[in-house]
Amino acid sequence: MDASETPTGTAAETPTRVESWTEWDPLRHVIVGRADDGHIPPPEPALDAKVPEDSDMRGQWGRRPQETIDRANALLDGFADLLRKRGVRVDRPVPVDFSQAVTTPDFHTPSQFGCMPPRDVLLTVGREILEATMSYRCRWFEYLCYRPLMQRYWEEDPGFRHEAAPKPRLTDADYHPDYLSDTIGEAKRLEWAAARHFVTTEEEPLFDAADVLRFGRDLVVQHGFTTNRKGIEWLRRHFPDHRVHAVNFPGDPYPIHIDATFSPMRPGLILNNPQRRLPDEQRKLFERNGWEIVDAAPPAHQTPPPLCYSSVWLSMNVLVLDPKTVCVEESEVYQADQLDRLGFEVVPVALRDAYAFGGGLHCCTADVRREGELQDYFP
Ligand code: NVA
Repeated sequence: MDASETPTGTAAETPTRVESWTEWDPLRHVIVGRADDGHIPPPEPALDAKVPEDSDMRGQWGRRPQETIDRANALLDGFADLLRKRGVRVDRPVPVDFSQAVTTPDFHTPSQFGCMPPRDVLLTVGREILEATMSYRCRWFEYLCYRPLMQRYWEEDPGFRHEAAPKPRLTDADYHPDYLSDTIGEAKRLEWAAARHFVTTEEEPLFDAADVLRFGRDLVVQHGFTTNRKGIEWLRRHFPDHRVHAVNFPGDPYPIHIDATFSPMRPGLILNNPQRRLPDEQRKLFERNGWEIVDAAPPAHQTPPPLCYSSVWLSMNVLVLDPKTVCVEESEVYQADQLDRLGFEVVPVALRDAYAFGGGLHCCTADVRREGELQDYFP
């Protein structure tokens, strides 16, 4: 497929205007990922540290089975259609050949990952879409899948700022070698997480876009495996009109990507994973502004699906369509029930068989346009 074939939703709908300030304003235009050619990447430092010792993914790599790719694509296509029917314009990335090695002057890795999930790569802040540095070698070139869309937005929207954070070198100096042993065990990892000792070092700025949540003037960024302190400082300098807050969740021994841990639902309401509680000190920002932080309902599943990197807490990886409407994975009955009781219209979406490709409903999307202007929620 080339850029001219990129499916773009129905042509007559929403004209291109990139703008999104929050996770909850009414969604008008979104990117939904694809499972095409999805690969389990070969071992590399940051990725190995994320895979739990008892995971079925240990030691496996290569192209994912075709039937799982087809099934995931059917679900992602279904989700895209559902969004279109609700009036949201949906664009899709253009996959590259992920079996290709990535070789730079600094590292070599024999294959790549995929174009799922877009939320990890693209950070939309207002009129800008920023390509994250990324912190896995296998995801170094993933931005290429989105370039046809970025070029199109740039042509069609004179106010769109397309930015890319400095590509990191990702030498061995970016990773703590002590994290690589598969005999570390969860207790030690929890101790390290509490001490903010993560697999990535402070060699250079690193961040994945999915570690960032947008609350208007405020950006909340998880410091963990995929985003280091320098990455957070880079974001602070890059967005001088925003306040950037670093957060940690010491209960998470594998802290990557904030959106199965802390999920803003609407102004004043956040779901927090009860096993990864935001520390009291960091809650103050929200509490003194009258925001409620509620424990998310338990996941409906005891284990993730096969060959999946993510935890069962993808249950709370929901996509807010507007402050009264939220998409929840259809098997996540407890999460759906909780959101129903909190006053939302819950839209069930089948996606579990696509989780293995990189996440849930929030992960597999990236905002292009949400209505609403920049607001200060924490004055
Ligand atoms: N840290 C996450 C990633 C979810 C997007 C997890 O719970 O697996």
